Amino acid sequence: MNELKGKVAIVTGGASGIGLASAEKFLAHGARVVIADINAEGGESAAAALGSNAAFKTADVSDTGQIGDLIDFTVDTFGGLDIMFNNAGIPAAMRSSFLDDDLHDFRHIMDVDLLGVMLGTQHAARYMAEHGGGSIINTTSIGGIQARRGQMAYRAAKAGVIHFTKCVAIDLAEYGIRVNCIAPGGIPTKILSITTAHLADPDEAVRELREVIKSIRPLPHDGNADDIAEAALYFAGDRSDYITGTILPVDGGIVAGMPLNAMADIEKSCATPISA
Ligand SMILES: NC(=O)c1ccc[n+]([C@@H]2O[C@H](COP(=O)([O-])OP(=O)(O)OC[C@H]3O[C@@H](n4cnc5c(N)ncnc54)[C@H](O)[C@@H]3O)[C@@H](O)[C@H]2O)c1
Repeated sequence: MNELKGKVAIVTGGASGIGLASAEKFLAHGARVVIADINAEGGESAAAALGSNAAFKTADVSDTGQIGDLIDFTVDTFGGLDIMFNNAGIPAAMRSSFLDDDLHDFRHIMDVDLLGVMLGTQHAARYMAEHGGGSIINTTSIGGIQARRGQMAYRAAKAGVIHFTKCVAIDLAEYGIRVNCIAPGGIPTKILSITTAHLADPDEAVRELREVIKSIRPLPHDGNADDIAEAALYFAGDRSDYITGTILPVDGGIVAGMPLNAMADIEKSCATPISA
C-alpha cells in the first residue's frame, strides 16, 4: 500500500466519480493529493473527509490561469508535483442523429475535454521537466476509440486526447515525463445522467443506456470507478516506468468487440449436418 509514498498528485475532476475514487486510491498508497474541480462544494467536502494529506483547489481545467494557480497551490501546499491526472470531463447531450445536433456545446466540450487535458499536461510538465520528471495520466473514453453514432463533439474531443497523449509522450520523454491515457467505458457515475438530462425521462434513458452497455460488453459484470482508479495507480507509480504513450481501455472488453450471440447461433447451426 505504499506504491506512491512521498509523491504528490493532482486529480482534476476529483470531486466525484472516477476522479474521487482515484484520489482515494492515491492517498491509500501514500501520496498527498490535491483535488481540483469546478464543483467547490463537493471538492471541499471530499478533501475534508480524506484527511490532512488531501487538499482542494477550485480550478476550471479549460482556464490556463487557473491551471497555473493549481500547480503553484500544489507545490506550495505539498512541496512538489509528481503525478498529474487530467481526468475532468463533460459529456455531450444525446441526439438521435448528427443532423439534429446544433453543436451548441461543441466549443465547451472541446475546451474542457481536450484543451483542459492539454493545459493540464503543459503546466504540469513545465514543473516536472525542471524537477526530475513525473507521470501524466489523461482520461479519454472508449468513445474516442470506437466509431459509433451520436455525441460527435465528445467523441472527437476524446479521440483528440488519444492522439495528443501519444504525441506529447514523445515530446516529454527526454525530461523523464511519461504520458499515458485511460479509456473508461460503462462506469456508473453521474456523467450518464448529465448525458440524458435534456430528455423527457432522463432516468429511464440512463437505465436503457446501461442495458445497451451490458449488451455490447463481453464481460458480464459491471465495472466501477475503482477499476479506473487501479489503472491510474498503475500509470502513476514506478511499476509502469517503461510505459509511455499508451491507451488502456478499462471497459469490460467493449472495444475488443461485441459478444455476438446471434453469430454464435448461426455458427452452431452451420455445424449441424444438413441431414440431421
Ligand atoms: N463514467 C464513464 O463510463 C466514462 C466513460 C468514458 C470516459 N469517462 C471520462 O471519465 C472522466 C471522469 O468522469 P466521471 O465518469 O467520473 O463523471 P463525473 O461527472 O462523476 O466526474 C466529472 C468531474 O469533472 C468535473 N468537471 C467538469 N467540468 C470541469 C472543469 N471545467 N474543470 C474542472 N472540473 C470539471 C465535474 O465537476 C465532476 O466532478 C471524464 O473525463 C469522462 O469523460 C467516463
